[in-house]
Amino acid sequence: MNPKKSIDFSCNLNRRTFLMASAGAAVSLAMGGFFRPAQAGASPYTLPPLPYAENALEPVISARTISFHYGKHHKAYMDNLNKLIAGTQFADMPLENIIKSTAGQADKAGLFNNAAQFWNHSFYWRSLTPKGGGEPPAALRQKMEEAFGSVDACKKALADTTVSQFGSGWGWLVLDQGKLKIVKTGNADVPFTKGMKPLLTIDVWEHAYYLDYQNRRADYVKAVLDKLVNWEFALQNMG
Ligand code: FE2
Repeated sequence: MNPKKSIDFSCNLNRRTFLMASAGAAVSLAMGGFFRPAQAGASPYTLPPLPYAENALEPVISARTISFHYGKHHKAYMDNLNKLIAGTQFADMPLENIIKSTAGQADKAGLFNNAAQFWNHSFYWRSLTPKGGGEPPAALRQKMEEAFGSVDACKKALADTTVSQFGSGWGWLVLDQGKLKIVKTGNADVPFTKGMKPLLTIDVWEHAYYLDYQNRRADYVKAVLDKLVNWEFALQNMG
């Protein structure tokens, strides 16, 4: 175990949330293994297993979409990241530090984009759960009511902000100075580079929904919020 590779993640991911559906049972994985080399000499990063089966989010998100999104898009970001850091000072740097130290650096845009997209997708899979949606846990509900007046108002703001992202990007529920906020980011940008703590995210790159919803981004976002969003994960990230 290389302590330099252990991950802060800035959002207190709970290892118990990291469940491998393929085994048919909850399997705890150490966060440190999340973005750590699988073995000496292997590429530095490996794809984190999906926390559910590829068809577990149907009918909201099809197995075909998950297969492409996870197996092709997410993997491509990881492969590019591994190529870009091999033999550089970034090879032994925690992923969040790579992202923070390359954000806004024009000559490091390729590395930033692939590192951040690798992180964003790993976070996105955990922002969804087959039995999601519904009422948020009490502590999160209280925060929502403080910041937005009601859970429904918070959900509406999250939907509206996410849908309105121009082009590719992400909608986020975050903590900013201890207060719940909703933000959107373009392309690979991630809120923790601006001091905000991500609680959950919704991917609105077209590859996330186009096979299932074509141009109907709003329908995809609404269905995710109603049926898949993982409020427990957001609560755990509130720390
Ligand atoms: Fe994506």
